[in-house]
Amino acid sequence: MSTAQPAVLIDQEELAARIADLAREIRQDSPSGQLHFICVLKGAFLFLGDLIRAMEGHVTIDFMACSSYGAGTTSSGEVRLSKDLDSGLEGRDVIIVEDIVDTGLTLHYLQEILLARSPRSLRTACLLSKPSRRKIDVTVDYVGFTIEDRFVVGYGLDYDEQYRNLPYIGVLASVTE
Ligand code: IMP
Ligand code: MG
Repeated sequence: MSTAQPAVLIDQEELAARIADLAREIRQDSPSGQLHFICVLKGAFLFLGDLIRAMEGHVTIDFMACSSYGAGTTSSGEVRLSKDLDSGLEGRDVIIVEDIVDTGLTLHYLQEILLARSPRSLRTACLLSKPSRRKIDVTVDYVGFTIEDRFVVGYGLDYDEQYRNLPYIGVLASVTE
């Protein structure tokens, strides 16, 4: 594990400001009613926490986890559900909350299985997007920041389970894909 602190890519103030904007935007698109947020563990847990605290109106949350096979910083494309939701989605206005969309394979898989559960609506909010890495065309309704093809850590995102506690999004100098 590298001992150097990751270089700052997006600082705390930028994160807070953009997430407040996203919360407003999401609420404007559903002015009344309950929004059901699904946090994709583990990476999106801080994003979910800040997003819903910036949000007005009625909100419920649930958590799911999936793993994509593959070592290091690239995903193999094979996705497996490792923790399912506690409750059903029928008739609900659902927002998937994801940390980052890279190849798009994880999100595509999640959208397919969640749509099959008959929500009234299904939208996706991703804090970060790396469009240059996309392998599959996937719809992301709300994107916090579009970034270049760099491996990022912090604010929930990890490298080998480390760095999730950094309050900012950073870049590890030593990580190569
Ligand atoms: P995808 O299936 O290739 O879109 O990968 C999505 C998942 O890979 C994300 O939910 C992250 O968990 C992980 N991931 C992709 N890029 C990064 C990164 O730059 N830093 C940390 N995790 C990443
Ligand atoms: Mg993830």
